[in-house]
Amino acid sequence: MGTVITGGTIVTAADTYRADVRIEGERIARIGFDLAEPGDALIDATGKLVMPGAIDVHTHLDMPFGGTTSCDDFTTGHLAALHGGTTMHIDFAQQPRGGSLQDGLDTWHAKANGRAVMDYGFHMIVTDARPEVVEELDSMVAQGVPSFKLFLAYPGVFMVDDDTLFAVMERARDNGGLVMMHCENGVVIDHLVQRAVAEGHAGEPGWHYRTRPATLEGESTERAIALAKVAGAPLYVVHVTCTEAVDAITRARAEGQRVWGESCIQYFFHTQDDLDRPDFEGAKFVCSPPLRTEADQARLWDAIRRDELEVISTDHCPFRFADQKTLGADDFRAIPNGMPVIEERMSLLSTAVHAGHLSWNRLVEVASTNPAKLFGCYPQKGAIAPGSDADIVVWDADAEYTWTVDRIHSAVDYTTFEGTPVKGIASHVFSRGELVIADGAATDAATPGRGRFVHRRTFEHARPGEYLGNVTTAEPTHA
Ligand code: URP
Ligand code: ZN
Ligand code: ZN
Repeated sequence: MGTVITGGTIVTAADTYRADVRIEGERIARIGFDLAEPGDALIDATGKLVMPGAIDVHTHLDMPFGGTTSCDDFTTGHLAALHGGTTMHIDFAQQPRGGSLQDGLDTWHAKANGRAVMDYGFHMIVTDARPEVVEELDSMVAQGVPSFKLFLAYPGVFMVDDDTLFAVMERARDNGGLVMMHCENGVVIDHLVQRAVAEGHAGEPGWHYRTRPATLEGESTERAIALAKVAGAPLYVVHVTCTEAVDAITRARAEGQRVWGESCIQYFFHTQDDLDRPDFEGAKFVCSPPLRTEADQARLWDAIRRDELEVISTDHCPFRFADQKTLGADDFRAIPNGMPVIEERMSLLSTAVHAGHLSWNRLVEVASTNPAKLFGCYPQKGAIAPGSDADIVVWDADAEYTWTVDRIHSAVDYTTFEGTPVKGIASHVFSRGELVIADGAATDAATPGRGRFVHRRTFEHARPGEYLGNVTTAEPTHA
């Protein structure tokens, strides 16, 4: 017995066409017409789009940060994601400073075990790279964690020196890993922050963005690109926000360097002015790098249209307003950095399609297919194709509604999109062949513990020219 999605329009990164999809077990079995067999379940997708489930390659669930812990765990975060049309994410496991990468990975596996509702992977945040830790990077790759994030921001917490960064880049060059960089100049930012506080601005969330200028993101992006060039390593720049950083990536690519960029949906919809909202409301919009200007938003949309950025993710890092953001009520330095947006992303992208910013195919590409290719799980994920996991979203592109906090499924107590009208909703969502969202509501199948770790392959950087080079004919596998 299988399931057949009938009457819908399939949208992939490449094509838009009318066909039905037959699911058998966990996989897509066939695409075509008249696919139903006796006993099959039928899902009517007439008038709707049938797309690969979105993949969010930048999330922070249950993450200790800023004196507290992000408030979605692997159950609430996953339920929010699934309601929004996201069927897989890659979270950041974190090396405890002075500890091993394995410690960090074990800790994050324990967070997800028994709680995950959808499939997930891990990147590894490297906080210090002693020689034995550099060696350990190979073991991460072997365990299906072939991507490493390093920070040029947050001195004393995450920031690494150039020696560490370079050592990790060289190892990634050799073991097929992909280095992901948070590009902001943390040292100069700290200098500006100290001065702002001395001048009496501690109580104003807006000084978060005033002390993190775009020029420092651009400078830091240039530095990461230069070091990756010398190391001969591929580079993925996370949460790109501004013209300066996009331009740096675009220049490097024009010169043939293997550099890719991600932005996050909030940077296209909110601006730095939101941090100046009264009554501490601005704290809801505190994230790093900070929200930028309308001119930066225009440059980001351009970059998406011109293929200068490859991915739109979320950097979902939720902190409740009532008792977590308020840790910084008197001092903006203590506002935990991060915004909740795992559920809203696809609806905002859909709204952007209606507004003419991108096509449906490009939406699928930046939200699902490119993430799968860059992070070593295509075509298991990110595709509507026979043999791929049946991670499928039936998208009602014409549904209109307004975001309010009551609609969201995250454990957070606000949405920054409160009152924002959007167009597009996930009506049905399949995760590895199981119907987990039906008519917009979670089904009994959406149970904690059903989600699986996705063992990802290496980034095949050895083939320059094939810039998303990890597209292989290998059988999709789960660890
Ligand atoms: O503000 C943010 N982005 N919080 C999460 C940590 C990070 O830098 O990605
Ligand atoms: Zn970051
Ligand atoms: Zn992040």
